[in-house]
Amino acid sequence: MESHDPTPSDTEILSATPAAIKRAAQALCNGELVAFPTETVYGLGADATSAEAVARLYAAKGRPRFNPLISHLADPDAVHELAETDERAELLAETLWPGALTLVLPRRPGGAVCDLACAGLDSIAIRMPAHPVARALIAAAGRPIVAPSANRSGSVSATAVSHVMDDLGGLIRFIVAGGRPEAGIESTIIDLTGQHARLLRPGGIPRADIERLIGPLNGGDDTPVAPRSPGRLASHYAPRARMRLNAAAPDEGEAYLAFGPELRSSDSICNLSEKGDLVQAAANLYAMLRALDETGAEAIAVAPIPAEGLGEAINDRLARAAAPRPER
Ligand code: TXA
Ligand code: MG
Repeated sequence: MESHDPTPSDTEILSATPAAIKRAAQALCNGELVAFPTETVYGLGADATSAEAVARLYAAKGRPRFNPLISHLADPDAVHELAETDERAELLAETLWPGALTLVLPRRPGGAVCDLACAGLDSIAIRMPAHPVARALIAAAGRPIVAPSANRSGSVSATAVSHVMDDLGGLIRFIVAGGRPEAGIESTIIDLTGQHARLLRPGGIPRADIERLIGPLNGGDDTPVAPRSPGRLASHYAPRARMRLNAAAPDEGEAYLAFGPELRSSDSICNLSEKGDLVQAAANLYAMLRALDETGAEAIAVAPIPAEGLGEAINDRLARAAAPRPER
């Protein structure tokens, strides 16, 4: 196959050597799709400046067109070329980047990111990832890289090379391998386009870390999540099996996602964290949902998860995984 062929039939897994990163960056610049590790989940990268590359990415994910993407940067100063920042944005970026924080900011007219990546909005979502492989790849590409989670739209996010391969094998050029993501759950998304900073998606950085810096989110209103960000479908992150939340124990025939010391992992039970640690639970969430789904059980029952810290993001994902689904 020609290296510039944008519709590969083979997906190559690369270990993250400098030569491989150069190859993968070249593929991105040619408009091809490359999955890579971040500290949150694996991302499916495309050149943010190329509408054709972004269209290819939507097609590979099977993603509804209206869902805007996050532009990933290797250099925090590059944010100024793409977006207008204010004091809140500067403080958050300075303190929490690189890391699991995405800022939605007013888009700077004439910025390099294509309209399709922003779904035609006058705002743009930007994040600087911490994972060294992600940063090396984006730096080598020398341009912003859009990267949704590297799974088919609506299904469970990918936290391992095998997950990416299962969902996208044959549809993308490369997967750059980088072990298990540390956080295991997507970035926290904060909308700074209005007077009140709003939490659009709870994620890898707990709300309290952000409120400590810029004050209460959502104007002090404690609704857990602000009105849905465009493309945040009610059903998302969904395994094949039906989901039953806040279940003290599994019913007969159910697989069980446990939390805390009561139940050990076995064939049909995965324990997010026996010691009740929410950080460990977030890191295990998607891999365990996939593993329980693979048991073939008709339903996955899930233990109650405390709401504090990363529990907010975990409960958000579980609620979406359990929501009524559109035909898939
Ligand atoms: O951790 C992450 O953020 C991962 C890794 C790969 O970086 N990426 C990720 O991307 O989760 P994705 O596409 O799965 O989720 C992006 C979210 C969507 O819910 C989308 O609606 C929101 O960001 N978003 C993007 N642009 C937006 C905008 N201009 N306004 C509001 N929400 C926006
Ligand atoms: Mg996603």
